[in-house]
Amino acid sequence: MKKTLFVLFVLVSMGLQAQKLPQLGKDPINKIVEAMTLEEKATLLVGYQVSNADANIIATAAGTTAPIARFGIPSTYMVDGPSGVRVDTIIPGTDKRRYCTGFPTATLLASTWDTQVLEKVGEAMGDELVEYGYDVLLAPALNIQRNPLCGRNFEYYSEDPYLSGKMTAAMVKGLQSKGGGATIKHFAANSQQSMRMFNDARISQRALREIYLKNFEIAVKESKPWSVMSSYNSLNGEHTQESYLLLTTLLRDEWGFDGIVVTDWGSPKETVTRIHAGNDLMMGGEPRQTKEIIEGVQNGTLSMEDVDRNVKNVLRYILQTPTFKKYKASLNPDLKAHAIVSREAAVEGIVLLKNNENALPLVKEDTIALFGVGSYYFYANGLGSADVNKPYVVNMIQGLQNAQVKTHPIVDDFYNKYLTAQEIQLKETNIPNWRNWFFGFKRPQEAIIEEFFTAHRAKDCSKAVITISRNAGEALDRENEEGDYLLTRGERELISNVSKIFHAQGKKVIVVLNTGGAMDIASWANDVDGIVMAWQPGQEGGDAVADILTGKVNPSGKLPMTLAIDYNDIPSSKNFPQHWKFSWDELLRPGKEVMAKKDLGYTLYEEDIWVGYRHFNTFNKPVAFPFGYGLSYTTFEYSNAKLKTAKNTCTVTVEITNTGKVAGKEAVQLYSTAPKGKLEKPLRELKAFAKTKLLQPGETTTVTMTFAIPDLASFDESIMSWVTDAGTYTLSIGASVEDIKTTLPLNVKKSIVRKAPTKILH
Ligand code: BGC
Repeated sequence: MKKTLFVLFVLVSMGLQAQKLPQLGKDPINKIVEAMTLEEKATLLVGYQVSNADANIIATAAGTTAPIARFGIPSTYMVDGPSGVRVDTIIPGTDKRRYCTGFPTATLLASTWDTQVLEKVGEAMGDELVEYGYDVLLAPALNIQRNPLCGRNFEYYSEDPYLSGKMTAAMVKGLQSKGGGATIKHFAANSQQSMRMFNDARISQRALREIYLKNFEIAVKESKPWSVMSSYNSLNGEHTQESYLLLTTLLRDEWGFDGIVVTDWGSPKETVTRIHAGNDLMMGGEPRQTKEIIEGVQNGTLSMEDVDRNVKNVLRYILQTPTFKKYKASLNPDLKAHAIVSREAAVEGIVLLKNNENALPLVKEDTIALFGVGSYYFYANGLGSADVNKPYVVNMIQGLQNAQVKTHPIVDDFYNKYLTAQEIQLKETNIPNWRNWFFGFKRPQEAIIEEFFTAHRAKDCSKAVITISRNAGEALDRENEEGDYLLTRGERELISNVSKIFHAQGKKVIVVLNTGGAMDIASWANDVDGIVMAWQPGQEGGDAVADILTGKVNPSGKLPMTLAIDYNDIPSSKNFPQHWKFSWDELLRPGKEVMAKKDLGYTLYEEDIWVGYRHFNTFNKPVAFPFGYGLSYTTFEYSNAKLKTAKNTCTVTVEITNTGKVAGKEAVQLYSTAPKGKLEKPLRELKAFAKTKLLQPGETTTVTMTFAIPDLASFDESIMSWVTDAGTYTLSIGASVEDIKTTLPLNVKKSIVRKAPTKILH
């Protein structure tokens, strides 16, 4: 009896105490922070280890935040992207896995030049995010594609900061409209993978502002992402995660960011310095970090103000989450509807690079000889944390067959048998493990096709289609070698033999490129009649490529980067790692010697602002295909361009007429050329773009493009200011950076100077 009374007493007093405690959502955040112990605060700032109980719900969360029950603070869940929502759980009571939609990679999405497409994909991803019970997607990623060999380029949008920023903002808006949050990553200047946790990117203030930060600035200001992920690398001698200047002075004070900053996962840096710099969450989170925060406050190396500031940010974030709002996830998003979104986005971003004598579209009577391992073994997206768990991948052969295109059964059969035999051979190497997670399964080599086989097919078939595939991912850069940036000998021979034999019969050859990023095209482009850049187009890839090949959809994608003639023409090639010359041990656990090595321990961004087209276009260097380039099955005329200015805004309108025979869309680009001033400036810089609606033959539409006049500025680091010089600017409106259709003068009467004081230099 006595014992029962005592237990009752304890329970009642605990209940009273809990009642008195402020509760998240009911009481002001300040009150909760005041009532928290240092231990609780420290726990909240460190990513929480997923427990078994949580694991049943959301095992594939890349990270969670710690729950603190006495204040009503729940755990919240973060999951990887950006090619989808990386769910990978088993449906309880079954052996069935849950899947997400595999969307096209970011580079393809940027090639759509259509922010509405990005918003739609964002909405579909946002829906899957919350319907699977997550709170935040660890995407989109928007680092600049400085060099084509960066292993993560497929996750990134473009070589141009304006296009990257705009695409990111549209994606974030779409995603967040469904109630969850987006994380823009990796902040900042994370443009190489070799030594990704140690490399120091050395970049001038001007290049930082105009190229490597501009994209983030646009995204933060236009779309208010919930979260920013600080990157692994260092920047001008200081680790980005330890930089108060970057994460607080610039991001929050100058740009007005008010979400949370999360560190990239598991980087081996100082906890106390990172908390002070403005990382609100240490991710993925280790118990020792909680201890380090507590000890930091106790020994005076970390102020309680810093801790409280971050705790408040985290609590504000939790308040917005679906989990806190007790949103009941259906665990059953509409994957069928999202598959349609994925395919529609993919067709908008596939780029037609070459189409001699109407090699494409295919015609009804065509029978296709479908060559290349890539036609049967297709990549929907790249590797690493972006490799999402999609239900299937439609490859080229399935896509063509679904579209009722006749393929030659003997060729199909040959490749199917070849791949089955190869699979058996590669079985031992291709087991799921961490290495393969990062670097992918070993791919069968290109099959050797005898000349007589091709000769027979050239008789039976009307055209040949060859698919070449490439893959890459995080932690490893690509190689300027055969089998990666360059074709293998087998691929070269396949293209040249098939072309020679088919051409001898007067028949055309088309190459489809299934790659996350740029590769060498110039050295073999002349051999073939058509080239389609399909990128990595998501799970519906084969169907989307078939839509383009058959002309069901007229291609309207355009390049978000320059494709160079030779890798060595690219300015950053002089300062980009050749990691394959080093051992794994050196790269993963670099000693002093490796840290002192150029391109590994540090990388000089010597090309400065002259990235991509800013270099090629300004200095009149020939390229294989310029930035913004892409063909259509129809033609367009640009006319009647006009501009209006009101206050600080310039609005340009231009009429676009479809002058060809089939319906199509045109991605219209607006570049500015600044008057001569103190700084040397690119000949053209992208300032606005728009895509037309589907125009019927003969139809005209008016496209409107708007930009803020102060955004014509360059960054003058001698006065740490954005300067828009007075004078006459030329606005060039065109179909690519090199195909300008019409120009307009814009007079800026008085120069505009905006101070941007944060100097990101140690
Ligand atoms: C990647 C991030 C990713 C995180 C969580 C890191 O290795 O750099 O992009 O979001 O892992 O999986």
